[in-house]
Amino acid sequence: MIERTFVALKPDAIKRKLMGKIIQRFEDKGFNIVEMKMILLDDIILEQYYGEHKGKDFYDNLVSFMKSGSILAMVIEGEDAIKNVRTMVGATKPWEAEMGTIRGDYGLSTPNNIIHASDSLESAKREINLFFKN
Ligand code: TYD
Ligand code: MG
Repeated sequence: MIERTFVALKPDAIKRKLMGKIIQRFEDKGFNIVEMKMILLDDIILEQYYGEHKGKDFYDNLVSFMKSGSILAMVIEGEDAIKNVRTMVGATKPWEAEMGTIRGDYGLSTPNNIIHASDSLESAKREINLFFKN
């Protein structure tokens, strides 16, 4: 099924100039990038974006990292995009992520684990709406 998912390259990926390489992987796999913009996040949008994690021990650290520089927000479209993009992204903790995944190849730690991708159809809808309403 053709789906749309939300992907964000996090501030560490932008600072490390990995944007081109990561976008290339999605294009090489056969996905289409249908929306794209650089955004500097604030507390208001982060509360909606990562609200599910509020109160967890890593939340404050996550929020300050996500505000430390611009992100590249994207909507990626293609066959079973939600599941397939999560597979390409790899495990949350990059030291547990398999080599060949984006986090496995480029990451070492959290919260700076390079990339975000929606984890379900509901999250994809919510996140696309949050970042690309207009
Ligand atoms: P989560 O939604 O669990 O992971 P994913 O990004 O794979 O969907 O967590 C959101 C982000 O919070 C995660 O990308 C990095 C950060 N985080 C930590 O810093 N420490 C942790 O122990 C966890 C679980 C997440
Ligand atoms: Mg998540």
